[in-house]
Amino acid sequence: MSEDIEIKEQKDYIEKVKKINQDKKLKYTILTMGCQLNENDSEKLSGMIENMGYKRVQDTNEADLVVFNTCCVRENAEDKLFGKLGELKKEKQERGIIIAIGGCMMQEKHIQEKLHKSYPFFDIIFGTHTLHKFPEDLYKALEEKRKIEDVLDIDGKVYEGIPIKRNDNLKASVTIMYGCNNFCTYCIVPYVRGRERSRKPEDIIKEVKELAQKGYKEITLLGQNVNSYMQSENKTKREEEKYTFANLLEDIDKIEGIERIRFVSPHPKDFTNDVIEQIKKSEKICKIIHLPLQSGSTNILKKMNRKYTKEQYLELAEKIKREIPNVVFSTDIIVGFPGETEEEFETTYKFLKEIKFYKIHVFKYSKRKGTKAAIMPNQILHEKQNERSNKLIELSNKVQEQYNKQYIGKQIQVLIEEKEGKYYKGHTSNYMMIYVETQKNLENQIIDVKITKNEQNKIIAEII
Ligand code: 5AD
Ligand code: SF4
Repeated sequence: MSEDIEIKEQKDYIEKVKKINQDKKLKYTILTMGCQLNENDSEKLSGMIENMGYKRVQDTNEADLVVFNTCCVRENAEDKLFGKLGELKKEKQERGIIIAIGGCMMQEKHIQEKLHKSYPFFDIIFGTHTLHKFPEDLYKALEEKRKIEDVLDIDGKVYEGIPIKRNDNLKASVTIMYGCNNFCTYCIVPYVRGRERSRKPEDIIKEVKELAQKGYKEITLLGQNVNSYMQSENKTKREEEKYTFANLLEDIDKIEGIERIRFVSPHPKDFTNDVIEQIKKSEKICKIIHLPLQSGSTNILKKMNRKYTKEQYLELAEKIKREIPNVVFSTDIIVGFPGETEEEFETTYKFLKEIKFYKIHVFKYSKRKGTKAAIMPNQILHEKQNERSNKLIELSNKVQEQYNKQYIGKQIQVLIEEKEGKYYKGHTSNYMMIYVETQKNLENQIIDVKITKNEQNKIIAEII
């Protein structure tokens, strides 16, 4: 069956559920864990659910349908899911709510087993490759009053036309590809999201054009490894037919109405010159690049299967800086990877100080069942991980403070997102959060401001 027909079939299920729910004034809530890709998946779930007649609420106590969109990149999400499920048992018994659990964690056998054993009151389990079938799963759960388990181990196809209800009306995320081929040794993603599949350029461009027409100003392109966009698909194409991530950036840059373009995450090993060139040429592509480093020790990078050395990363960062002088970087670092010695951690610390990232996202290594790193010797104790993590967070805050200070007295553009107390706040293109004190309603506008001071970690500016 073609993807279009499959989606058409799901739209028929949407109508069927809508009919069942008619006049019932039902409500749903959705709890999303994890990354921006999951947030985007939840927007699709919300789109389908709202078309089936449910209204969104925040509080699970009010909801008739509770959906969990889970993540399994780190262990703390598991504790969160099981904790929440425990709280829901009473609601299930008393009010007969529907509980649906989906996303990455559901692709893991041991999690499915735990749900059956300890939380058997769930109604629907769905995986990463069957998200588009949620209307059918819900229909069957409601009509047939039985448990639905819809998890596939084979890679899903790329589906277009799933209804979407976005969380924001100014900034939108657009997934450009699914899956990952990299198998970093600590990471569960390739196991639960499958191999790389890219959306067609024309489908992405159409979506962004529609967003621009609706008034969206900022687009974030999402993928586990955006520089591999179309690489799997290109393998079977003639040279002149090959389309790359740089081509996509170029095409999106031309879309009128979109003023800012961001993307997450590129992999340093695949960051090509044509992408650097495109970032340089485009006024819309934000000059902050998230470039996950993971470790500043070549030995650890090797054990992580990252396929670059510390020197190669530095060379890339310097090349980007040479081409785009005002660029800033943010990064991800894992502390306490198995076998990480004090010396290796210090090497990372020094390297981070040298590059001066605007923001370091620090992750304590979390052992993921089924990955290569999970069976590596010398797993690091939690106390050590905490100590290393605190040290890096402190460094990140210090560098950010110094960086922000340089801007006092300077002019900059801010995309105003919302009101907070007496301020309107929003981000600059290089992702500084700015607070503007004014009586005017500035929401959804890009305005020129002058930064006046830093006050209790807030960067304050005035309109010019
Ligand atoms: N433990 C800790 N952090 C991890 N990440 C991915 N897998 C793990 C893990 N097992 C981090 C990486 C990645 C970010 C999204 O999550 O730093 O870039
Ligand atoms: Fe995980 Fe590495 Fe793929 Fe990122 S590139 S999703 S860290 S395997």
